[in-house]
Amino acid sequence: MSAPRSYELYGAEFRRNDRAIYARMRAEAPVVQQPGIDGHTPIWFVTGAAEVEQVLADSATFARDPARVSPEMAADFQTPDPRVRAITDNHMLNYDGEDHRRLRALVSKAFTPRVIEALRPRIAAIANELIDAVAARGHMELVGEYAFPLPITVIAELLGVPSERRDDFRIWSDAFVQPAMTAEEQQRAMGLLGAFAAYMGELVAERRQNPRDDLISRLIQVEEQGDRLNESELFSMIALLIVAGHETTVSLIGDAALTLLQHPDALAELRDNPALVPGAIEEFLRYESPVDRALVRFVVRDTLLGGQQLHHGDLLIVALGAANHDEARFAHADELDIHRTPNPHMAFGKGIHYCLGAPLARLEGAIAIQTLIQRLPNLRLERAPDALAWRTAPLFRSLVELPVSWDV
Ligand code: HEM
Repeated sequence: MSAPRSYELYGAEFRRNDRAIYARMRAEAPVVQQPGIDGHTPIWFVTGAAEVEQVLADSATFARDPARVSPEMAADFQTPDPRVRAITDNHMLNYDGEDHRRLRALVSKAFTPRVIEALRPRIAAIANELIDAVAARGHMELVGEYAFPLPITVIAELLGVPSERRDDFRIWSDAFVQPAMTAEEQQRAMGLLGAFAAYMGELVAERRQNPRDDLISRLIQVEEQGDRLNESELFSMIALLIVAGHETTVSLIGDAALTLLQHPDALAELRDNPALVPGAIEEFLRYESPVDRALVRFVVRDTLLGGQQLHHGDLLIVALGAANHDEARFAHADELDIHRTPNPHMAFGKGIHYCLGAPLARLEGAIAIQTLIQRLPNLRLERAPDALAWRTAPLFRSLVELPVSWDV
C-alpha cells in the first residue's frame, strides 16, 4: 500500500492533536486501513470502544503470535539478532493459547492484589524519600525525579534486580519500545538491546550461583527444573517485567500530575479527601490512557469488524486512548470526572493479555499522586501545557519532562 495516510498517527504533531484526530476517526471510520509507521505496510486502526473490545476479547481471531498466521509471517516479525531475540521475542505478550497461559501462570501469583497490597509501606517510603530529596528546593522535573525512579525502584526490588543500573534500564527500555525505522536507528537499537541481553546473561549467571529470596531466583529454579520455562523465555520474562513494569507507570504518574495541575478543583478535592484517590486514578487511566495503543494483532481468519472485511494475515492496532474517549461508552468523555462510576475503561487492555501489573500500577499511581499533593504546597506547572513535549513512541502517551514548583 503506498497511498498516503488518511489520518496522521505518528510523531510529536499527532500527540499534540491526538484527541481531535481520534474523535474524527471514531466518527468517520472506526475501523480503517492505512499505512503504518514505515509509510507502506497496511494496518487496520481501530478506534471505536465496541470494536476495540471485540478485538481484545477474541485472541482466537486476533492473535499476538505471527506464527498463528504462517511461518513466513513469523519469520518477518522475528528479531534478526539471536542474542537480542532471546530477550525480546519469547515473553507472554507475544504468545496466545497454551504458551501464553503457561508463561503467565509462572508469575501471576506474584502480582495479585493481596500480594501487591503488602508492598504499600515500601512504595510509600520510596515516594517520600524522593520528595524529601527535592522538597526544600522548591522545584523539580517531575518525570525524571519522581515519576521514573518510583516504579523502576519498585519493580527492580520485586524482581531482585539491582536498581543502581536504573538509568541503563531507562535507555534499554526506550530501545525496546521505540520503533527503529532507518538502518541507523536499527543499528543503534540492536546495540542497546545487545547490552541489555549481555547484562541479563550476567545477572542470571550470578543469581544461579547465589540464589536469593526474589522473583528472578524463583524463575531460575523453574527453568532449571526443566520443561516449563526455557532460558530464552526466562530472559524475555525478566525483560518484559522490567520494561512493562515501569514505562507505563512513569507515563501514568506524569500524565496524572499534569492533568491534576490543569484541574485545580479536582486537586483540592483529592487533597482534602484522600479516599477519593483510587477512583481518581481510574479516571486518569481513562482520560490520559498512558498506553495509548496495544501491540499489533495478526488476523488469523477472515472476519468482519465494524462493517469492514478483514482477511487472514492482515495487521491491526487498537487505540485504547481512542476507545477510552468514545462517547458511546462514556458520557462527556472529554471531561475529567474523578467521581465517574462505573468507569469501564480499557487502559489495561482486555482479554487474555489484560495487564498483569494492574494492581501494582494502581497502587503506585495512588501513592505517588497522594504523596505529591499532600507534601508539596501550592504545587504548580513551570511550563505552559502547550509547550510540553510528548515522547514520540506511538505506544505511549507520555511526557518527556514536566517541570513543576511549589512553595517552600
Ligand atoms: C499504568 C500502568 C500500566 C498500564 C496502563 C499498563 C497497560 C497494559 C496493557 C494495555 C497491556 C496489554 C497490551 C496488549 O494487549 O497489547 C498490558 C500488559 C501487560 N502488563 Fe501492563 N500496564 C501498566 C503497568 C504494568 C506494570 C506495573 C507491570 C508489572 C508487572 C505490567 C506488566 C504487564 C505484563 C506482564 C503484560 C502482559 C500480560 C499478558 O500478556 O498476559 N504492567 N499492560
